[in-house]
Amino acid sequence: MTRNITLYIEKDYAALSQKAAMIFAQNVKFAPTAAYGFATGSTPEGMYEKTVQMHESGEIDFSKLTAFNLDEYYPISGDNPKSYKYFMATKLFDSIGLSPERRNIPDGESKDPKAECFAYEEKINACGGIELQVLGLGNNGHIGFNEPADIFTGATSYVQLSENTIQSNSRFFDKPGDVPRHAITMGIHSIMMAKRIMMLVSGEAKAGILRDALLGPITPLVPASALQLHRDVIVVADKAAATHL
Ligand code: F6R
Repeated sequence: MTRNITLYIEKDYAALSQKAAMIFAQNVKFAPTAAYGFATGSTPEGMYEKTVQMHESGEIDFSKLTAFNLDEYYPISGDNPKSYKYFMATKLFDSIGLSPERRNIPDGESKDPKAECFAYEEKINACGGIELQVLGLGNNGHIGFNEPADIFTGATSYVQLSENTIQSNSRFFDKPGDVPRHAITMGIHSIMMAKRIMMLVSGEAKAGILRDALLGPITPLVPASALQLHRDVIVVADKAAATHL
C-alpha cells in the first residue's frame, strides 16, 4: 500500500464508527470553522450517531463548520425522505446544531443541473476547499456517484447512475423503479482537492473492491483507486472489509 494511505482495521462496525467519529472530531477541534465533506449511504451512519453523542455530551462544538455533501439524486425534492438532503438533516445536521446556511448539498430540484454543478464547485472553492472529506465505497468502486468509466471525472458533474448502483440503492426505496437514474456529484478532481480524505468501508462484500481500490492499478474502472494518488488518505475498515488486504 502506498505510504500516503493510513489504514485502520477495526474489529467491527461499531469500532469503525467510533474511530471515524474520533478522527473527525479531532479535526474539528483544530479547525472548527473549516469546510467538511460528508457522504450519505449506510456506512457513515454509525459515525454520525457517535458524532451526535459527542455533541450532546458537550465535548465538541460542531456548529461552526461548513458542510458540503458529495452528491444528491436528480431529480429529487429536498423534503423527500429518500433525498440526501433529508438524510443529512435527520442523521446529523439537525442534531449537531448546524444551521441551514452552513449546509451545502447539490440541489436535486435545480432546473438546470449543469449550472448547479458549476455553482456547487465554485461554492466549495470560495470556502477555501475541504479540510476533511468523508467517503463511503460503492460495491463497484465508485466514490460519490463517480461510476466506473473510461476516464476520471473532473469537477462536480451531472451523471447517470450505473445499473449496479441503482440496484444497490434500491434498498432505500420502495421499489427499484423509484430510484432516480441521475445524480449531481462532486467529481474525482473535486474530491482529490480535499486536504484529507477519510474513507469508511464495512463488511465482507466490500473486501474485494477495497483491495482493488488500494492495491490494484489506478484506473477509472475503479474510481476509488484515484485515492492512491492523494497525499493524505485515511481508510477506516472493519475486519470483514479488510480480509483481502
Ligand atoms: C453517498 C455516496 C456513495 C456511497 C456508496 C457506499 O453519498 O456518495 O458513494 O458512499 O455508495 O454506500 P453504502 O455506505 O450504503 O454502502
